[in-house]
Amino acid sequence: MLKNEMKTLRNLVHHRIYISSKTEKNIVEQFHSLYYDSHSQTWNNTYWLGIPTQKCPLDLWIYQEIISEVRPDVIIECGTANGGSALFLASICDLINKGKVITIDIENRKTRPWHKRIKYLLGSSTSEKIVKQLKKLIGDKDKIMVILDSDHHKEHVLNELRIYSKFITKGSYIIVEDTNINGYPVFLDFGPGPMEAVEEFLKENKDFIADRRREKFYLTFNPKGYLKRQK
Ligand SMILES: C[S@@+](CC[C@H](N)C(=O)[O-])C[C@H]1O[C@@H](n2cnc3c(N)ncnc32)[C@H](O)[C@@H]1O
Repeated sequence: MLKNEMKTLRNLVHHRIYISSKTEKNIVEQFHSLYYDSHSQTWNNTYWLGIPTQKCPLDLWIYQEIISEVRPDVIIECGTANGGSALFLASICDLINKGKVITIDIENRKTRPWHKRIKYLLGSSTSEKIVKQLKKLIGDKDKIMVILDSDHHKEHVLNELRIYSKFITKGSYIIVEDTNINGYPVFLDFGPGPMEAVEEFLKENKDFIADRRREKFYLTFNPKGYLKRQK
């Protein structure tokens, strides 16, 4: 191929992928809505090693990146459901040969997977009883990471943020799931939820920032939800 032809081809390719930021936003939002609204085909039909896992795989990849960078001693998950996400987290801990997972739910399900790194707690994530149990299971020097995926109403998430942010060590994360609901951009009529809780929390707590680099794959169920402790 001649030098000039190469140049034109490069220009063409460049032009074909040029997208204005407004168009990009529309494309991402439309795909996000399609993916979210097709839940019986997508996030309600996603499995980790055969266990239902209510996640967008692009977020799970980000979890893997955070875990391998932060190398937490303990990952606390609020909201276990079938245990698929807990098993995913434990599998990543296996791969880096570090960490355990403590997962909390108000419901007990007998079909949850057994794994030597997973401990299941039964109760509400915001109850004194659960917080007391957690404190007993965590060492003073442990590096902690938290994932909030239980009751998605604003008051509950804000309460969780106030309680669990205290566990987070500098450089680690508290991940608030499903900040995409109530119109960001899906589930328009949910009412105040995780996004509103994050916004209020970030106003009152300057130790955390929303690490928007974690949204690099465009589609995330957790916009503004990757909260990093910087102080
Ligand atoms: C979205 S599901 C969790 C999904 C799971 N993390 C996954 O990715 O597969 C939410 C779970 O939160 C639980 N839940 C609701 N309110 C709760 C509370 N106050 N404390 C702890 N868990 C709660 C529900 O029973 C449900 O199993």
